Amino acid sequence: MFEAPLTDVRGAARLRPLEPHQAEEFAAHLDRAREHIRPWVGPSFVTTDVDGARATLQRYADATARDGNRIFGIWADEVVEPVETTGRAMQTLVGGVMFVEFSAAAGTCEIGCWLEPAAEGRGLITAASRMLLTYAFDERGLHRAEWRCRADNARSSAVAERLGMTLEGVLREAWKVGERFYDKQVWSVLAGSRVSARTRPR
Ligand SMILES: CC(C)(COP(=O)(O)OP(=O)(O)OC[C@H]1O[C@@H](n2cnc3c(N)ncnc32)[C@H](O)[C@@H]1OP(=O)(O)O)[C@@H](O)C(=O)NCCC(=O)NCCS
Repeated sequence: MFEAPLTDVRGAARLRPLEPHQAEEFAAHLDRAREHIRPWVGPSFVTTDVDGARATLQRYADATARDGNRIFGIWADEVVEPVETTGRAMQTLVGGVMFVEFSAAAGTCEIGCWLEPAAEGRGLITAASRMLLTYAFDERGLHRAEWRCRADNARSSAVAERLGMTLEGVLREAWKVGERFYDKQVWSVLAGSRVSARTRPR
């Protein structure tokens, strides 16, 4: 399966499609990530067992087959085993990025993301999201990419800003967690404005 190095980050990390056959690995990763991501992502993503993890990946696989939504995992080299043992780095699934919406017909997409706590602060999501923007705009000719997050999700907003996105507005109390409603920010970048996004410092 193809993989792309996330070259502008410290340490080795790779982006690859995340597929139903990786459900056990995804479920083990969710055990490390679950409580960290629960307040900030859609409830259907926060599954508790392998069947739930497989259902998420199958949902994406079905959508991808229709040229719709897509999900990609980020594998980082956490432990390098001695060459005499295996001769390769041990890679751990630490998070990912996805097109939570992707419509070639409408020319629009929305990017989402998550990480387990140990993988934060390395620029992995910014680098991976840039790859998705390149795919959407340069390869597929889409016109607009969105980023939606809870208004109090500072780390998520910071990624959108780093990607050169513009904060378009706030949907009031549009994000329900438990019994509480939170404001939701809508960020976007348009195909034509990506030159400035690329040259913008992080
Ligand atoms: C949102 C989330 C994915 C952001 O993770 P993140 O690590 O802050 O984002 P990135 O991977 O882009 O890394 C940026 C951080 O790495 C640092 N960094 C290091 N090298 C970098 C590089 N080459 N490029 C960019 N940033 C780099 C940045 O300074 C920043 O750290 P700081 O905020 O401490 O200054 C993560 O906080 C998370 O999973 N939260 C819970 C789930 C969630 O909110 N998902 C999004 C729902 S909308």
